Amino acid sequence: MIIRLRKNGPIVVDDADVQVVDWNGVPYAIERRPVALCRCGASSRKPFCDGSHSRVGFQAPSAADWEPGGSGQP
Ligand code: FES
Repeated sequence: MIIRLRKNGPIVVDDADVQVVDWNGVPYAIERRPVALCRCGASSRKPFCDGSHSRVGFQAPSAADWEPGGSGQP
């Protein structure tokens, strides 16, 4: 499974079996896949992204600096 951070956008989990559960272990209904989780804090559908990151001008921290074949941790 790959968890992908979109540039200035959500965290996307593209896995047919992924579930999103709350702190009690109760699953949220997933209406579409891949699952996009809000990381800007502006979504009205938390924990899911509703596209509000564009409206609020969310700027994500820098991209990963690991390079394939490099000496760092993958
Ligand atoms: S990341 Fe999309 S609404 Fe927050």
